[in-house]
Amino acid sequence: MLDANESLRDEALVRIDQCASEEEIEQVRIEYLGRKGILTLRLRGLREVPVEERPRIGEQLNRLRLLIEDRLAARLSQLKKQAQERAIREESVDISLSGSRWEPGRVHPVTLMMDEIVDVFLGMGFEIARGPDIEDDYHNFEALNMPKDHPARGMWDTFFVSDDLVLRTHTSPVQIRIMEKRQPPLQIIAPGAVYRHDDDATHSPMFHQVEGFMVDSHIAFSDLKGVLTHFLRQVFREDTGVRFRPSFFPFTEPSAEVDIQCLICGGQGITADRQSCRVCKGSGWLEILGAGLIDPEVFRFVGYDPEKVAGFAFGMGVERIAMLKYGIEDIRLFFQNDLRFLRQFS
Ligand code: DAH
Repeated sequence: MLDANESLRDEALVRIDQCASEEEIEQVRIEYLGRKGILTLRLRGLREVPVEERPRIGEQLNRLRLLIEDRLAARLSQLKKQAQERAIREESVDISLSGSRWEPGRVHPVTLMMDEIVDVFLGMGFEIARGPDIEDDYHNFEALNMPKDHPARGMWDTFFVSDDLVLRTHTSPVQIRIMEKRQPPLQIIAPGAVYRHDDDATHSPMFHQVEGFMVDSHIAFSDLKGVLTHFLRQVFREDTGVRFRPSFFPFTEPSAEVDIQCLICGGQGITADRQSCRVCKGSGWLEILGAGLIDPEVFRFVGYDPEKVAGFAFGMGVERIAMLKYGIEDIRLFFQNDLRFLRQFS
């Protein structure tokens, strides 16, 4: 009997040590100390033990019960402590880990260029205006002196939204929208996106223009020359050569294309290594913008009297100016959002 209790004790202590959770502890407790537990049954069985042995075995069983209760309690608090330590370890924040870096965004190079262009005109007293990207046929073409089926409409590869609506092919319609609403004197700059069905290294289906115009009682071609020469010398170099070359636009008369001396070969047409200049294709000049005196027909469309007012207008491509200024060879770089490209401008 004594031996049996000893092996029961050894076995119980091993079982308790092996418990890995509160539930397992409870199971072991029931197994030994529950109403039908091994130890409970043995205590009950004392009745059958001869009277003279009863006190000794009884005392032994009672001590065993206390021992098992003790060990169960000890193992339980050990498990709780381990769980707590684990939680502290796993839930703690490692403040030595370096954080992820937030890089501030930058202004897009096209926006930078556009702001720079607009700034020069603001400095000359121009005012900023805007018009809709989806434009009607009347403002994009007709009132700019291009009736339906006019061949000059072919100068722009137009995206049609409907029979009467287009994605504006240029910013010139802003001239019409302003003059319809306001009276001279006007000195306006109109930056914005324009759209053309065209896509290669120097043409993008969406790009940006800055339109400008000035209307008053006595505006002459010399005013246009003065304003644009000053502008080009601000954006490019102080001593940049500027050339006005006769051209045609339906909404100006006379019209001009404005060139600057090539930035690469300095107007020589050949580079230092005696090669024909790749940028100006040997001509020494770079075409920068279109301009002219506002056609009397345009004034009639907006209800101005061409005998009483005169004005000049001009329009330029923002990406083209940025490409020439920074030596960028493919317009698509502006719209591919490659950070290695975009980070070079700030
Ligand atoms: N709208 C023309 C274009 O997109 C550019 C232009 C030329 C605008 C002459 C003007 C101008 O205002 O007078 O090609």
